[in-house]
Amino acid sequence: MSMTTQEALKISTLPVTEASILLAYVLQRDRSYLIAHPEQKLTCAQKRRFETLAKRLENHEPLAYVTGREEFYGMGFKVDKRVMIPRPETENLVTEVIQTAEKIKNPVIVDVGTGSGCIAVTLAKYLPKATLLATDVSSEALEVARINAARFKVSKKITFLCGNLLEPLREIKGERSLDIIAANLPYVKKDWYPKLDPQIFHEPKLALIGGETGLEIYQQLFIQAEKYLKPGGKVIYELDGQILIH
Ligand SMILES: C[S@@+](CC[C@H](N)C(=O)[O-])C[C@H]1O[C@@H](n2cnc3c(N)ncnc32)[C@H](O)[C@@H]1O
Repeated sequence: MSMTTQEALKISTLPVTEASILLAYVLQRDRSYLIAHPEQKLTCAQKRRFETLAKRLENHEPLAYVTGREEFYGMGFKVDKRVMIPRPETENLVTEVIQTAEKIKNPVIVDVGTGSGCIAVTLAKYLPKATLLATDVSSEALEVARINAARFKVSKKITFLCGNLLEPLREIKGERSLDIIAANLPYVKKDWYPKLDPQIFHEPKLALIGGETGLEIYQQLFIQAEKYLKPGGKVIYELDGQILIH
């Protein structure tokens, strides 16, 4: 049976905002189009797709994975299950890094645990004179980060490296060569993980759990950072939604 956009939204069990974002995504339009065209009929394929994707949301899958996109610093990043969905708080980390880097001539910056690449790619856009490196222990995450770098035309500005924290820098950067280490690393205590919101379980565990205490990965980073930071260099990092500078 055919159905209008208005009817599709009415019968959906999803919250109104989610349902309208999803329907707009299915129609490849923006949400204002739905308001302006409540009587538009969905094709059978559109109706089926809307229902299938709505089921994924009902199953607590985050909207960003269903649409394959998340907004960060005003840019639409590709996301999928290989990477954590960028969080709004991380935009504050990027702002802090930009403000610090602008005071340095030709800064050398590494984004540790780059995930979708949202930090490194945004820094490459805003800091044209910076040398940028980005590491992740997940080669799958790096595939997504590279796609995002290409999407925003900064592939040539970022060196992506796979490995543990700063270890992959060993071959290409000497000791005391970094001005800034930017990091949004996992910090969830292993015991807390099962108690988190069900949506979180769709994101990579590797992006969330920071060992028994939650702080183990950061502790390792600080040990490695001593060797790689220039005198006066900074670690700018996110912990529990707070931006800290060390
Ligand atoms: C909290 S997510 C942050 C992703 C991205 N930077 C962001 O802000 O959206 C942490 C990322 O760190 C990576 N990671 C975890 N342990 C790591 C390690 N020992 N070395 C490098 N990356 C690591 C994960 O694969 C994940 O992509």
